Amino acid sequence: MKVHLKIKRFNPEKDKKPYWGEYDIEADEGDRVLDALQTVKWTIDGTLNFRRSCAHGICGSDAVRINGRNVLACKLLIRDAVKNGQITVEPILGLPLIKDLIVDMEPFFAHYRAVMPYLINDTDPGERERLQSPEERARYDDTTKCILCACCTTSCPSFWARGEYVGPAAIVQAHRFIFDSRDEGAAQRLQVLAEPDGVWRCRTIFNCTEVCPRDIQVTKAIGEVKRALITGKLD
Ligand code: SF4
Ligand code: F3S
Ligand code: FES
Repeated sequence: MKVHLKIKRFNPEKDKKPYWGEYDIEADEGDRVLDALQTVKWTIDGTLNFRRSCAHGICGSDAVRINGRNVLACKLLIRDAVKNGQITVEPILGLPLIKDLIVDMEPFFAHYRAVMPYLINDTDPGERERLQSPEERARYDDTTKCILCACCTTSCPSFWARGEYVGPAAIVQAHRFIFDSRDEGAAQRLQVLAEPDGVWRCRTIFNCTEVCPRDIQVTKAIGEVKRALITGKLD
């Protein structure tokens, strides 16, 4: 099928502001939008810049805004993306633009680091590993699926309004450890999330849940963290 691609382009060395680059390609309807971007780069304009690695929805590096919605370019089929023969591709919003579809992820990862996304427990684990029941493991299973793609945080109006907001992805990562029975750092993480730019900046808008490519119940996880802050309980 013929596809008309409109891709936001920006080269800070020569462009004052981003503009739409327009490209006509031939594609299979079962191809992914990532394939279409690669076709443009490999056959029309080698200067097009975008991130990608695994091409299978695992690494989380190719989050872009396609037809106004955050997705992984490697997970969206062309036949599902094309509207009136056209697909628009833009960088995700709310992070500094570096070039074309590439944004600076450092502010996103700074929020991630702020919630201490690692097991905190200084006690001796004993002869074997720290044990956990299937029920205890299930308590935080959903939030273990996060691949840090940033689709959620960069579709959140609260984050667009204030980049200091820690954002849904960081809260999901905090949730993964706060509700892990082996972890003892919940109080430290909840203290970070109780700050003005913590969890209360979430206005329950749900964009994060709608775009998560891993189908994580992001808003539910945020609600559970809010409840833990109010009640002081981790049930
Ligand atoms: Fe991506 Fe979902 Fe993780 Fe957000 S919660 S970073 S959308 S995988
Ligand atoms: Fe934003 Fe999601 Fe809350 S979109 S306001 S973090 S429910
Ligand atoms: Fe890895 Fe799309 S390239 S998730």
